[in-house]
Amino acid sequence: MSEIEQLEKLLADAVFQMASADEEGLRRIEIRLLGRKGEVNRILSTLPALASAERAALGAAANAVKQKLEAEILRRRAALGRELESELAEKEWIDATEPGRAPALGHAHPTSAAVAEIASIFERIGFRRARYVEAEWDHYAFEALNMPHDHPARDDWETFFVDAPPSKKFGKMVLTPHTSNAQIREMERRRPPIRMVSLSKTYRRQSDVTHSAMFHQFEGVVIDKGIALTHLKGVLDYFAKNYFGPDRVTRLRPHHFKFTEPSFEVDISCGLCGGTGRTAAGPCRVCKSGWLELGGAGMIHPNVLRAGKIDPSKWSGLAFGWGVERTMMMRGGQNIPDIRLMYMNDSRFLTQF
Ligand code: PHE
Repeated sequence: MSEIEQLEKLLADAVFQMASADEEGLRRIEIRLLGRKGEVNRILSTLPALASAERAALGAAANAVKQKLEAEILRRRAALGRELESELAEKEWIDATEPGRAPALGHAHPTSAAVAEIASIFERIGFRRARYVEAEWDHYAFEALNMPHDHPARDDWETFFVDAPPSKKFGKMVLTPHTSNAQIREMERRRPPIRMVSLSKTYRRQSDVTHSAMFHQFEGVVIDKGIALTHLKGVLDYFAKNYFGPDRVTRLRPHHFKFTEPSFEVDISCGLCGGTGRTAAGPCRVCKSGWLELGGAGMIHPNVLRAGKIDPSKWSGLAFGWGVERTMMMRGGQNIPDIRLMYMNDSRFLTQF
């Protein structure tokens, strides 16, 4: 093949390859042909050895091929640029008239929402909302609540002790295992008449599908002249109707707490069977007996009033204390397989509420 034929083949091959080359391929072809040590220069370097007529012919041919190659590369590069643009336009086009997308808004944690709602139900009948410390002295958590140091009932609370120097006056420091410390704290802070609901975190050494080591309780306290069991029943029924629904009622079942006398466990009539324990389909699958257990309550023990420097011959009081999570789930009818999910902060779980 003559040099001129070689040049023509070079051009034809290059044009063919460029048609399917990308930006990078194009650059490689350019270097291979037009680079300092490229094909065209290699052919041009043979010129000095040629006779003058041949030299002129080959020189002219080489320059013509060089110009055609340069033009073709430019054309191809421009085409690639346009392709890229239209690809981007296709992929990333923006409709400026489209309404904006609202950012995902969160909502209160289900427990926070329940705490706010429960507080507001009691606030409507004159209860003042309170919140007391959660790292508390033994005195307030137990002793002043008529639970002497060695009393076995103290084992029921499965207390966390805080690794802090004990107080001479108030004993060891604990994480509040119930909100009943608020009874004494409130009596120390205010004189009767008292109507208070305290909502806070509580801690017990327990962790399984129905218990988490941290949970919430609300504690209600009323102290006034002539407060009787009927007031307790009235307040509990009021709460049941306002939180669970107008057809719900409560039932008091005798129980034992050291800080109330008499003491009760509070049950609420089952929402599914209406307190009968039976539905058309047979025994009620929610409650079995017609009633669901809510929490503890009673008339404040005279010793507890005394510990709060309130004269039990003049004043009497009622108190009740319930778990927030339990109360909330009972209303929602949620079947949460593991209560600890509430506090794992997995948004897939929490956004369901
Ligand atoms: N503190 C008790 C508990 O955690 C509940 C309770 C509160 C009982 C007030 C009576 C009066 O179980």
